[in-house]
Amino acid sequence: MCPQPILYFDHSATSWPKPPGVAEAMQEALLEAGGNPGRGAHSLALAAEHTVTRARGDVARLLGVPDARDLVFTPGCTFALNLVLKGTLRRGDRVVVSALEHNAVVRPLHVLAARGVKVARVQADSEGHIDADAVERSVAASATRMVICQHASNVTGAIQPVADLADIAHEHGAVMVVDGAQAAGHLPLDLATLGVDAYACSGHKGLLGPQGVGVLYLAPGLSPVELVQGGGGGPSEEPAQPDIRPDRYEAGTGNTPGAAGLGAAARYLLEHGAEIERRERSLTRRLHEGLLGIPGVKVLGPAIDVPRAPVVSMTHDRIPPDEIAFSLDRRYGIAVRAGLHCSPWTHSMTGTLETGAVRFGLGWNLTEDDVDRALEAVREVCAGS
Ligand code: ALA
Repeated sequence: MCPQPILYFDHSATSWPKPPGVAEAMQEALLEAGGNPGRGAHSLALAAEHTVTRARGDVARLLGVPDARDLVFTPGCTFALNLVLKGTLRRGDRVVVSALEHNAVVRPLHVLAARGVKVARVQADSEGHIDADAVERSVAASATRMVICQHASNVTGAIQPVADLADIAHEHGAVMVVDGAQAAGHLPLDLATLGVDAYACSGHKGLLGPQGVGVLYLAPGLSPVELVQGGGGGPSEEPAQPDIRPDRYEAGTGNTPGAAGLGAAARYLLEHGAEIERRERSLTRRLHEGLLGIPGVKVLGPAIDVPRAPVVSMTHDRIPPDEIAFSLDRRYGIAVRAGLHCSPWTHSMTGTLETGAVRFGLGWNLTEDDVDRALEAVREVCAGS
């Protein structure tokens, strides 16, 4: 179906390809460490335990988490957000949330609202930035249990002032929860100094690991009480889930090959991450600038000189986004994602709720030549050629 080697611009959904070492680490976990981590003392169980512990340590180093036990492996970012939201919020609690959130936050909050949690939304400006003063006004207006904000948008790439929001939350006795799906691996991150209480990451996006694994950082002061999932694991056989980290939040057998792959990706990023961030920044600007030069094209979100995550979404005044994406794929072998990107709240803010947009998600392996080829293809598609 694909006419030539694929030019992959869908890193915001899932990074691909994976860097060297990821597939190998997963294969090694299956072939040489195939026991059940934390269950049993035979050599393959111990090898599996070692694999998971090493991966947790490497991801913790990458994210700046001093104690790796504060990092919980989850099946993904969505699970991580459900864990912290549903585990913490109770009837009568009030949350202040940015009006840009992905459905991974919107939908759990919808369930919680039906259970009596009060949800207050703070709007963004026209570039998609949340104003910290507006958050402060909302938090000060009524007792608030939690502030929730994404670190970077999966539609506009806008970066939110999450450290400032954490300060505001704490001044008013609330906890700060961040959806880091589009930031982790793309933006410099030091969770020890960021000051947030919970930070959820996908393993398979900027962190360059496989699908089916994510991480949740839980600061020592935040321990979700209600568990999304209870079950085996931990040092005792009492019916109550053991109150130790990370076991309390990792009931049941986890995804050892996934953790191994994510650990290998973390090691790659520890070595090459700074250079990748620089390149992604420069390619994002190159793409943004190039798109602005194409007649009829509008780019959503922050202006060209404002830092953004490596995400650039565009619309055209005549050709619908799904047609552009279809042509890019079928005629040029360029993979982008059109539509609402599971973020109707953001598309509502950008005025693209009816049409959606074409999104380019840039990643670690792309080059200037790739960006120029994509721009040439968009130019041709938009010229109707
Ligand atoms: N949340 C992912 C995206 O933005 C799947 O495409």
